[in-house]
Amino acid sequence: MGSRLENRTAIVTGAAQGIGAVYARALAAEGASITIADRLDGAAVAHEIREGGGRAQAVETDITDPHSVEAMVGSTLEAFGRVDILVNNAAIFGNLRATPFEQIDLDEWDLVMRVNVRGAFQCATAAVPVMRESGYGRIINISSGTIFKGTPFFLHYLSSKGAIWAMTRGLAREVGGDGITVNTIAPGYTASESVLNDETTWNLVRERMNSSRAIARDQLPEDLTGSVVFLASDDSAFITGQCIVVDGGSAVN
Ligand SMILES: NC(=O)c1ccc[n+]([C@@H]2O[C@H](COP(=O)([O-])OP(=O)(O)OC[C@H]3O[C@@H](n4cnc5c(N)ncnc54)[C@H](O)[C@@H]3O)[C@@H](O)[C@H]2O)c1
Repeated sequence: MGSRLENRTAIVTGAAQGIGAVYARALAAEGASITIADRLDGAAVAHEIREGGGRAQAVETDITDPHSVEAMVGSTLEAFGRVDILVNNAAIFGNLRATPFEQIDLDEWDLVMRVNVRGAFQCATAAVPVMRESGYGRIINISSGTIFKGTPFFLHYLSSKGAIWAMTRGLAREVGGDGITVNTIAPGYTASESVLNDETTWNLVRERMNSSRAIARDQLPEDLTGSVVFLASDDSAFITGQCIVVDGGSAVN
């Protein structure tokens, strides 16, 4: 256990499983108290963190519902007294299937935008007043390396993650004076639970993805934890409005 985030509290959205759960464990291992905010039940992840000596709670949250998002922040304050770090990780991702752009269903387009873009915006909007009060905040938005590569057949997803990157830049300027930084992590294709569950796609693209990288191997969720802890910590205090692409050197210009 490290102590880089001692006395800090983090909300990690979409952390009941997948990469979000890995972020939650990594932040807890550095001493942060964690709220696992997911539509799914995050009790098992919270329990595991507590068993390991950390502090964590699971709060069932729909990031598109303003009341739910307020409750997420409220219960974090109640349990831990602060909100220092927000990791906007929840997204519609794992269930999406490759679809030519003309065939993307409009309802699916709207859902992806509502969750991935508006959801992240709503979580930031709810967390910033609390961060402003303490004069400290770290917002980490999860985009995707696909936006720099123009990956085809996921145009709604790509557009939503491009918006996340643009939102990062604009929000960083609005809250910089309050001691709040806003940055983005853009992961490459990562062997998360939902990616591995779709065995057909994994087998189809795995080798192509690996050989596109300067570091030609599978990307694991753990490859992302160093960046999230760094951006959550004091070490990144003068870094804001930036994007760290963590993909083994696949999206290099
Ligand atoms: N795995 C990859 O290859 C990869 C690559 C680049 C970026 N990403 C991004 O990383 C993040 C995590 O990826 P993952 O593979 O673990 O994805 P995932 O689809 O397995 O997990 C997303 C999580 O978000 C939660 N969620 C969805 N809608 C929600 C809502 N309305 N309210 C609250 N929670 C909600 C889900 O329940 C789920 O636990 C996502 O933002 C994804 O877009 C993933």
